[in-house]
Amino acid sequence: MNQTVVIFDTDPGIDDAMALLLLHALPSIEIRAISTVFGNASIAACTRNALYICERFNLPYPVYQGAGVTFTGQAETDYPDFVHGLDGLGDVGFPAPSRHAESQTSVDYMIETLRATDEPIELLAVGRMTNLAEALRQAPDIAPLIQRIVMMGGAVAVPGNVTQWAEANIYGDPEAAAFVFDSGVPVLMVGLDATLEHRMKKTSLMALRHELGDAGEFLWQIKQCYLKFYADKGIFDGFPIHDSTAALAVVHPDCFEMRRGNLVCETQGEQRGRTVFTESEEGVHEVAMAADSAQLTTIFETAMHAKYGAGSL
Ligand code: RIB
Ligand code: CA
Repeated sequence: MNQTVVIFDTDPGIDDAMALLLLHALPSIEIRAISTVFGNASIAACTRNALYICERFNLPYPVYQGAGVTFTGQAETDYPDFVHGLDGLGDVGFPAPSRHAESQTSVDYMIETLRATDEPIELLAVGRMTNLAEALRQAPDIAPLIQRIVMMGGAVAVPGNVTQWAEANIYGDPEAAAFVFDSGVPVLMVGLDATLEHRMKKTSLMALRHELGDAGEFLWQIKQCYLKFYADKGIFDGFPIHDSTAALAVVHPDCFEMRRGNLVCETQGEQRGRTVFTESEEGVHEVAMAADSAQLTTIFETAMHAKYGAGSL
């Protein structure tokens, strides 16, 4: 089978953790490396979490640590511990991993890797776009070498989840998003328009807990924090799985309503972090405007059962 090669740029993060296990399970994807970025927690915590997941589930991917401050050098003062816990993985109390990150930074790794190969490589970014913007700023020659960026973030026709206008990954570093959108690299944006349409039911999570062995127990444990966040909002029966939805869009575009056009990101004023999309057949960007949740659920569950379920290898 022809596999799509991705560098997974992530801020684990509860839904990032699920997406990593899903990517590992999808037969049509090859993860070449994991790149971390701050966002759901500090960069140290996000890197530790990526390493912990790799170690616990024998994921053979190198982990490169990326940015701990925004594209313009701003430190974060307010991590979303009310969603992801203080440690980024729901404060379950996991031990420190014994694996270490690679010595090279993720930005240097991406630049070097893209320059060294003519193999098509996609960047799947499910956190702030800081590392991608920094790589493109330091090495503009890599722009034509990137097959495509698929990113979870933004909102076009629905409200944001941090402000009325802005989604969290974009709001966390609007200058980075603006820089990437302006770089000429093809981008597929899988934002709230699509991810809010693909929710996991709490009953499905409970079933996965029993069906997926250690992976099911891990997902159940970390998701308790997430379930509480949604329950506090009066939502009891399910939750979006933003980053997994973006991961599925890489290889299952047919499950989405895609529109072509051009994206820009507002960096000023009350609409800071807003992603504005103008449809155009000549555009370099695509946006997933809707998702077929039933199909995506089937693909998700099939892959996860095959990789982690009873009788899996
Ligand atoms: O808005 C949802 C996004 O913000 C997800 O990627 C989540 O992990 C957080 O980073
Ligand atoms: Ca994320």
